[in-house]
Amino acid sequence: MAEAAPLRVGMIGIGTVGAGTWRVLRRNQEAIRGRAGRGIEVVAVAARNLARAAAVLEGAEGVELTDDPLRVATHPGVDVLVEVAGGTGPAREWVLAAIAHGKHVVTANKALLAEHGGEVFAAAQRHGVAVAYEGAVAVSIPIVKALREGLTANRIEWVAGIVNGTTNFILTRMRDAGLTFDEALAEAQALGYAEADPAFDVDGVDAAHKATLLAANAFGMPVRFADAHVEGIRTLQALDVACAERLGYRVKLLGIARREAEGVELRVHPALVPAGHLLAQVNGAMNAVLVKGDASGVTMYYGAGAGSEPTASAVIADLVDLARLQCQCSQGAARPSVPPLAFHAQADLPVLGVAAVRTRHYLRVPLADGAAVAQVPLVLADCGVAVQSLVRHAVPGDAAAPVHALVVTHPALDADAQRAAERLGALPACAGAVARLRVEVLE
Ligand code: HSE
Repeated sequence: MAEAAPLRVGMIGIGTVGAGTWRVLRRNQEAIRGRAGRGIEVVAVAARNLARAAAVLEGAEGVELTDDPLRVATHPGVDVLVEVAGGTGPAREWVLAAIAHGKHVVTANKALLAEHGGEVFAAAQRHGVAVAYEGAVAVSIPIVKALREGLTANRIEWVAGIVNGTTNFILTRMRDAGLTFDEALAEAQALGYAEADPAFDVDGVDAAHKATLLAANAFGMPVRFADAHVEGIRTLQALDVACAERLGYRVKLLGIARREAEGVELRVHPALVPAGHLLAQVNGAMNAVLVKGDASGVTMYYGAGAGSEPTASAVIADLVDLARLQCQCSQGAARPSVPPLAFHAQADLPVLGVAAVRTRHYLRVPLADGAAVAQVPLVLADCGVAVQSLVRHAVPGDAAAPVHALVVTHPALDADAQRAAERLGALPACAGAVARLRVEVLE
């Protein structure tokens, strides 16, 4: 039987991810053709900087290069649009235009899908095309495919993970080298890990985009980024990283989506994880995701969370899926058979407010008078928060420095722990801001 015609790809963006996709498609073209059942060819590229794009594409024949993204999105010779330019304004228009012209879309743009996924997926369904986005979540790790296909038998109970490489790098450097947040961020930027606007990384927004997509796939709910609780690591003190270590924990920025009877917890925040937990071993810019299914139990996925070719790996996997889809359907249009958010219809699950979330908590209370440590459990008890452990921490060699009461609580309502932190901060002996971080044991 003759091989099907190549899948024709138009790309918007040929920066870090686009160039990686181009390189890997060329380098592995025989293996990719063997797996896809036909070739995958880039036929058009839109770029802001044409000279730089021409340098990336050097030696390529038959690739139309333009500075007009809409031309690529609506190009009659393109079967699939690969959108790797990022952003949510123009990217939304390009993707919707491609869909309206009957083209499948592959994107690594988590912001676009977390914020406009409802509109984009509905348009794709109307036009019978796919919107694939494996590269948008924990890049190299095939977690979307795992949730949508491999774990499809399960009632998913929770998904939790380290899904931002930049902040994990920063936290690793704060722990390993005792750096402050600012020093570690400067290193992350020098190595090119951070987003163009590092606020997206350090304030937890990027992780929340990804957690939103994971929650939608895990629980069959719409993308509800606006309802996510998002805290970053900008105000994290090096002292708390060190104190957590002393207590047997590591600080990680976690994205957590948990199914409860009344709805879904969807939250991103720094948390203490037991030092012996697998997530505590995930260092540098690596990502890892844990999924708890009722039948599978806990499964874990680990890999590079950022970078040119790790993202290309996911983008091309989506392209191969589309190439295979069209191979199976030589007559008429090939419609995607796997729903983009895992379920054929979304349930209207609410996102629960963080005040009602129940976790353990770490509290660090700086006290001018060491004798005041005894007041700490009394205040906590008064707020309905039970103490699991209490340790006195004095700064070595500095008798004038405050003594810190380091508390780990039993599971308590977030609202109660917050009230307790405020009450502790108002104690006459309190000598500075009370630090509060959630503790996640992820059993
Ligand atoms: N800035 C992102 C990160 C890149 O650090 O994880 C990949 O989404």
